[in-house]
Amino acid sequence: MNEPAIKVVAMPRDANPEGDMFGGWILSMMDLAAYIPARKISRHKLVTVAIDQIVFHQPVFIGDCIECFATVEKVGRTSITVKVDVMVERFKVREGAPNEKVKVTEGRFVYVAIDRERKPVPVHGA
Ligand SMILES: CC(C)(COP(=O)(O)OP(=O)(O)OC[C@H]1O[C@@H](n2cnc3c(N)ncnc32)[C@H](O)[C@@H]1OP(=O)(O)O)[C@@H](O)C(=O)NCCC(=O)NCCS
Repeated sequence: MNEPAIKVVAMPRDANPEGDMFGGWILSMMDLAAYIPARKISRHKLVTVAIDQIVFHQPVFIGDCIECFATVEKVGRTSITVKVDVMVERFKVREGAPNEKVKVTEGRFVYVAIDRERKPVPVHGA
């Protein structure tokens, strides 16, 4: 796997009332991560049009280090689809065990290139 686009420690302020990480926070990290390779492809303003096939495979806990890996999957006429895989590194130092790495979430983010009137324009257009 390549380098993660984003690597960040899950903090208590982003937890849900049950004390695990809030899914919306994970989605916002994924959206930011997906935007990074998409941004390198088009000079136009990009907006998120769809977030597809999100699966939360495992919970994320406070203190986990989340890593978002973003891969451009498809470049259409006006859209760019980026697959994001989220892994967490779970620190086990207190238990004296090796750290654990697990895949927690995946999904696809679709961006559309738009002009000043907010109309879709070709990704590679002038
Ligand atoms: C993005 C937006 C300009 C698209 O307008 P639209 O008239 O639906 O555009 P089109 O139907 O021409 O589709 C444009 C591209 O998006 C793709 N697209 C549109 N809806 C999609 C969907 N639900 N899922 C996946 N792709 C989609 C189309 O396939 C097309 O891609 P292509 O040109 O590469 O083939 C408009 O929907 C919009 O402004 N949405 C709000 C975006 C926003 O503010 N996002 C942030 C939310 S906080």
